[in-house]
Amino acid sequence: MRWQCEPFVRDAILGSPHGAARVCSNAVLSTSQGDVLPIGAVSVKEIYDAEHRLRAHAVSRKMGEGDWYWYEYAFVTGRLHVDGHNTGSCPDCHGAASIEQTFVIVR
Ligand code: HEC
Repeated sequence: MRWQCEPFVRDAILGSPHGAARVCSNAVLSTSQGDVLPIGAVSVKEIYDAEHRLRAHAVSRKMGEGDWYWYEYAFVTGRLHVDGHNTGSCPDCHGAASIEQTFVIVR
């Protein structure tokens, strides 16, 4: 099975600070069940500006129980915002999701 992606860029939902976006889930994530996710679940988020031009990528990946890798790079500015395990502001906010660390799962 392949990656599942939202069909369109859309405005932020659920109070997201990321702005307009399109989210993709890998097969491990899109076929998962329940609120504890399998190791290897990956989300990739394309982040867009107000004119819907792609400006950054954000990634989350479950590496192990209690071990999440987070990455965000804004290639428009060349700034690497986050690159590491259980780090940055990412898990603080994503910890509030009803499914482990993950708000949007594309099926
Ligand atoms: C203040 C809360 C908040 C912070 C901080 C935050 N996020 Fe998110 N994030 C969200 C919300 C809410 C969504 C889903 C809503 C949407 O996609 O519009 C989301 C969606 C995502 C997604 C798509 C998968 C999912 O969980 O829905 C990824 C990947 C992601 N964020 C990565 C990151 C990374 C990397 C960081 C740290 C640099 C980060 N986020 C920081 C709130 C946050």
